[in-house]
Amino acid sequence: MPVPADFNDRNLSLGLARVSEAAAIACAPLIGRGDEKAADQAAVDAMRNQLNKLDIAGVVVIGEGERDEAPMLYIGEEVGTGNGPGVDIALDPLEGTTLTAKDMPNALAVIAMGPRGSMLHAPDVYMDKLAIGPGFRTGVVTLDMSPAERVSALAAAKGCSTNDITVCVLERPRHEAMIEELRSTGAAIRLIMDGDVAGVMHCAEPDLTGIDMYMGSGGAPEGVLAAAALKCMGGQIYGRLTFRDDDERARAKAAGITNLDRVYTRDDMVTSDVIFAATGVTDGSLVPGIKREVGFVTAETILMRSKTGSVRRMIYRNPTK
Ligand code: FBP
Repeated sequence: MPVPADFNDRNLSLGLARVSEAAAIACAPLIGRGDEKAADQAAVDAMRNQLNKLDIAGVVVIGEGERDEAPMLYIGEEVGTGNGPGVDIALDPLEGTTLTAKDMPNALAVIAMGPRGSMLHAPDVYMDKLAIGPGFRTGVVTLDMSPAERVSALAAAKGCSTNDITVCVLERPRHEAMIEELRSTGAAIRLIMDGDVAGVMHCAEPDLTGIDMYMGSGGAPEGVLAAAALKCMGGQIYGRLTFRDDDERARAKAAGITNLDRVYTRDDMVTSDVIFAATGVTDGSLVPGIKREVGFVTAETILMRSKTGSVRRMIYRNPTK
């Protein structure tokens, strides 16, 4: 009987970078063209095509949606040649479809891969999220604290004033009360239009991005992708699923979740070592976007392995046909 291959994260990581690169490059002609759907479709097609070239027996656990609502890269779809290790894949071929359509910062093509069973099968509901970067004791901030308490706790841990803390928040009506409370502490708020995977990742490099903490609700699938990124970069993320109706509760139960109130830590969402790749689509503070010059296209990718904590920034320049 053939022995199942191990998850060889070192060898697979370069292939993973090709996958996010391909997705980002494919949607480049659609940046700033006002068509979210076309950009997303181009990224999905290219990502799937590249994934299917990898020697893995992959299953999409975080994808474009349930099988009946997504024609490709749906949850449960098998990808890869089948000749290789069994792996779980979390992906978002275009994280920030509106950002791309409007040519606004921080749209990314994102993918994470780990051994089979390593990632939370998060349903497509909202998740209340809280993230900080590396270097703090576990639980220095928690979801049970109020937004103002989180700012005070982080400022105390950093040895600075609450005025020196910057919090990243998705600009949404549902966050208005939280934003008001955060402002009352004197903290600065970096409002983002979309893209909370990048929002969370910003916390891991505060010197580069100026962001200390991320909070607020966004997609649960994006929460798992962000947890995979922080597993590689360092930092804490906490997430609690939130439900607007019984249909969403049923989705969670169908995904195998029994305790609907559970607070997930980073390592609950991603239970073993993973690899993570994100390629810039539009320019962002973590990674530049796709550049198109006559005859060439250039893409920059952050490629990370949690086992080693290694972070590669790879620039790919290729002639266009
Ligand atoms: P899309 O790329 O699918 O448009 O998602 C962008 C995003 O901003 C995510 O980063 C975030 O988690 C989610 O949408 C927030 O959802 P909503 O727009 O419903 O507040």
